[in-house]
Amino acid sequence: MSFDFDTVLPRLGTDSQKWQKYPDRDILPMWVADMDFRAAPAILEALHRRVEHGIFGYARPVKSTVDAVVNACATRYGWTIDPAWIVWLPGLVCGLNVTAQACAVVGEEVLCLTPVYPPFMTAPKNSGRVSVPVPLALHPGPTGLGDGFWAIDWEALEAAVTPRTKLFYLCNPHNPVARVFRRDELVQLAEFCARHDLVLCSDEIHCDLILDASLPHLPTALVAPEHAARTITLMAPSKTYNVPGLGTSFAIIPDAALRARFVRATAGIVAEVTTLGFAACEAAYRDSEDWRQALLAALRGNRDRIFAALCGGELPGVKIAAPIEATYLAWLDVSALGLTDPVGYFEAHGVGLSDGAFFGAPRGSHVRINFGCPRATLDEGLRRMAAAIAALPLKG
Ligand SMILES: Cc1ncc(COP(=O)(O)O)c(C=O)c1O
Repeated sequence: MSFDFDTVLPRLGTDSQKWQKYPDRDILPMWVADMDFRAAPAILEALHRRVEHGIFGYARPVKSTVDAVVNACATRYGWTIDPAWIVWLPGLVCGLNVTAQACAVVGEEVLCLTPVYPPFMTAPKNSGRVSVPVPLALHPGPTGLGDGFWAIDWEALEAAVTPRTKLFYLCNPHNPVARVFRRDELVQLAEFCARHDLVLCSDEIHCDLILDASLPHLPTALVAPEHAARTITLMAPSKTYNVPGLGTSFAIIPDAALRARFVRATAGIVAEVTTLGFAACEAAYRDSEDWRQALLAALRGNRDRIFAALCGGELPGVKIAAPIEATYLAWLDVSALGLTDPVGYFEAHGVGLSDGAFFGAPRGSHVRINFGCPRATLDEGLRRMAAAIAALPLKG
């Protein structure tokens, strides 16, 4: 079966957050992380069937939905999970916030590795906990065009721990640097957390979007089984299958006491997952693998297109430090352009990007581009970026 990742579908005027940002301006939105693709046919069929039933009471997952998640963990990652470990959530950001409240008290500290998806830094603060960002170390390559790598700065991490540190947030694969952490790093991280008695919360929302086929997804709870009792793994079908608007995610928490703390922190304030969300989740994990493989091929093509633009001189002054191992997000170094507000500048030239400063990068240094879109949209975005750069006054 072939799937269509080429047709440009209109989203302007719909309920899309991404497209509503610029209702009256000709700005191509390439910011928030959802894709401009229709969901897999199996998901659409499941939703149609569920709508046809016509009754939408309070929902609880049926066995086949739980089985779909359990089987995906087993077949994709070799991770055997007990259905009792699953706590359903309406979103992963919600999961980060709940984890902060469950694992730290007001004034206690939560570590994360920056640059990072902004809620990693804001979630602790939302409830009076303290976010402690630890910068990743960039080992730059000779060209600055994908030949360097981002690594955990173990010394900085150790130095950041205080008696108030209770929790570590990992993002694997990492948004925005698109890194897939390796087994030795994950084991070392789990040991670090054990040494300091920290809960390790691993956001693995992008784990089915690994573009480098040689890299497996390794759930931290699986690679460090002796420390699994201190892990909370957050997953969802939302990014991979482009259904974030259906609000369906889950935490996997092997330890019963930690799970009870987590569930207590959700009480009365975390909304339940909906009937449509469960239907989409089951069809995603069980019936959409062929679509996912086709999606990965399309995303690899778009990633290669971005590298061709960068290496071919289409975007002079724009670099990318490391390979894009996963996700449909590219972390672009625009510091050489000398702009104080690169996002505002590119918006003025018709492209809407995410501001690296929100991810903890120095102001003006980075932007993030979302390439989860048809090639024609990406080409147009790159063309507008190139025109924006060409319009900059010449230096020197
Ligand atoms: C690492 C990461 N976690 C969580 C989310 C958002 O999750 P949700 O929409 O389920 O709250 C995103 C969205 O981009 C993300 O990149």
